[in-house]
Amino acid sequence: MKEIKASLVGFGVVGHGILEVIKRKQPILRDLDLDLKVVSISDHTGSIMNEAGVDADCVLKDKTLEKVATSSMKGQEAIKAVDSDLVIEVTPTNVVHGQPGLGHMEAALSSGKNLVTSNKGPLVLAFSRLRKLADDNHCQFKYEATVGGTMPLMSLIERTLVGNTIYSIEGIFNGTCNYILTRMAQENISYSHALSEAQDLGYAESDPTYDVEGIDTAGKVVILANAIFGMDAKYSDVKVTGITQVTPEALAMAKKRGYVIKLIGEVPSLTVKPMLVPIESPINVDSTLNSAAIVTDLSGTITVTGLGAGSIETASAILSDIISIYR
Ligand code: HSE
Repeated sequence: MKEIKASLVGFGVVGHGILEVIKRKQPILRDLDLDLKVVSISDHTGSIMNEAGVDADCVLKDKTLEKVATSSMKGQEAIKAVDSDLVIEVTPTNVVHGQPGLGHMEAALSSGKNLVTSNKGPLVLAFSRLRKLADDNHCQFKYEATVGGTMPLMSLIERTLVGNTIYSIEGIFNGTCNYILTRMAQENISYSHALSEAQDLGYAESDPTYDVEGIDTAGKVVILANAIFGMDAKYSDVKVTGITQVTPEALAMAKKRGYVIKLIGEVPSLTVKPMLVPIESPINVDSTLNSAAIVTDLSGTITVTGLGAGSIETASAILSDIISIYR
């Protein structure tokens, strides 16, 4: 049995989902000969540490670690101090300075620890630096959950489609915008009402401007450009138009002509904009779903769809990255 000592950094919605999923999937992990233990969890209030594995039931009932913390160490200090092989970084994302996640990722990789994350900001800002740090320290660095949540994309391209040349990827990469556009088009719900529903569902970013102005989609486009196409793209390279100007009249007119309007991100053209999509197109998915059409030389176009966010769904992508490192 291979022992894996993991440090979970960030204990919000995704952090709770990961702890829950690791607990629930112990039988499958054991079948794979993996003894995965979370030996520390850190958030902005402190850390809980236990070499034998933190008791998930004790911590899952609380929103933060405040009541159960065994150490006042946080972030980078805790990452360096704990004897772990793997860091799971899931703190809130920031695309302006990338912190605190960027510092956590640098601390993990420079300490020789493998890194799995769902945190988009640091990858948007510093993908090539993090990739190099991982390579220099002989660490694995996985980020399936950063684009499309549980929708398989990175692993599909890197493993299943390996050998193909990828010409382009286009799709819906923001569940909040897709939910708003779907509700407006199908139920005549107003933009602001649909946005507040998306916030209630827990899909929207804490600042929903990131979603509706296309910033979140543009970040995902940058991650795909750098991770899949080997580009050195920056957020400022992306031409971005959000969905705030999409009117109910435009949606109705599109429908009459056999189209829907969706916020589409494209790589390598580095564009994000509302586009007309034929109703019968495989990338036309509703509600909070994401989709991606991957255009290749050998396999033609492969289209995938799935839930782009959510606590357990994001945790599923993270668990898959962890297993792929150690199996
Ligand atoms: N706010 C994002 C969305 C979360 O709505 O898709 C997942 O990245």
